[in-house]
Amino acid sequence: MITRRIPSTNEPLPVIGLGTWQCFDVPLSGIPPALPAVLDMHRAHGGRLIDSSPMYGNSEKVIGRLTKTLDRRDDFFYATKVWTTGREAGIKQMQDSMDKMGRSVIDLMQIHNLLDWRTHLKTLRAWKEEGRVRYIGITHYTDDSHQMLEQILREEPLDFVQFNYSIFNRHAEARLLPVAADLGVATLINRPLGVGSAFSNVLGKSIPTWASDYSIHSWSQYFLKFIISHPAVTCVIPATGNPVHMADNAAAGLGEMPDSEGRVRMANYLAG
Ligand SMILES: NC(=O)c1ccc[n+]([C@@H]2O[C@H](COP(=O)([O-])OP(=O)(O)OC[C@H]3O[C@@H](n4cnc5c(N)ncnc54)[C@H](OP(=O)(O)O)[C@@H]3O)[C@@H](O)[C@H]2O)c1
Repeated sequence: MITRRIPSTNEPLPVIGLGTWQCFDVPLSGIPPALPAVLDMHRAHGGRLIDSSPMYGNSEKVIGRLTKTLDRRDDFFYATKVWTTGREAGIKQMQDSMDKMGRSVIDLMQIHNLLDWRTHLKTLRAWKEEGRVRYIGITHYTDDSHQMLEQILREEPLDFVQFNYSIFNRHAEARLLPVAADLGVATLINRPLGVGSAFSNVLGKSIPTWASDYSIHSWSQYFLKFIISHPAVTCVIPATGNPVHMADNAAAGLGEMPDSEGRVRMANYLAG
């Protein structure tokens, strides 16, 4: 799988990650066999990043349970978030997340939806110094938040910023993506498939034959390749609980990439 460098360390990260909102929030007593298969498929295709949050119900625990018995569990890049107010509550929640995910070090800890971000950022900086988290970041999922994300990136040294971007919603192209690139901040892209609505937008439309020049063989690959071919994107995190979809998504991280002209052609085809 194609990788991108995390600017703050130069560590390579595979471009296709895995989101877990809803898909991994299942009862612990009945984890469907599809979920371990999704993780196997992710890894088998060279993917690493798994994104979770205490907001996602059982997701962190399910990830911990499923990775506990894997030989190569350290191959994954574990990302989660803090989503509460107050210093003590944040510390407790982050410790709980580490326990639930079965990690003594979290690869990336993010402040979810900027909730009480000034408070948590102080803790995150201290935890990074102590080696309890390797990278720190902030997240949101709405266009309205982009200005605030940009302002924080300009004021505070951060490793990652996570936000929404897709072929149907290109708001982040105007400022946030170029600003992150200029400041040397890695980007994680959420809502890449519009929570599944991207597929409804192309009902009755066929994938153009020229898309195969970019090794695109499904709509999912069309949507994801558009995102990762933006030079400021580090990793995209489509969520799935279906191993066939995981394989489909992972394949977007292989083969030819559209250049800037190809990206315009891809967007125009869907606008037309
Ligand atoms: N503020 C934040 O920090 C924030 C906010 C939003 C999202 N996020 C993160 O970003 C992740 C992704 O966003 P999202 O979950 O909102 O939505 P998304 O990834 O845009 O869409 C997920 C939906 O697409 C479907 N899907 C995935 N791959 C597919 C494929 N190849 N073919 C057909 N359908 C496919 C999934 O269903 P199946 O299970 O059937 O595949 C699921 O219903 C989240 O899970 C979360 O980790 C973070």
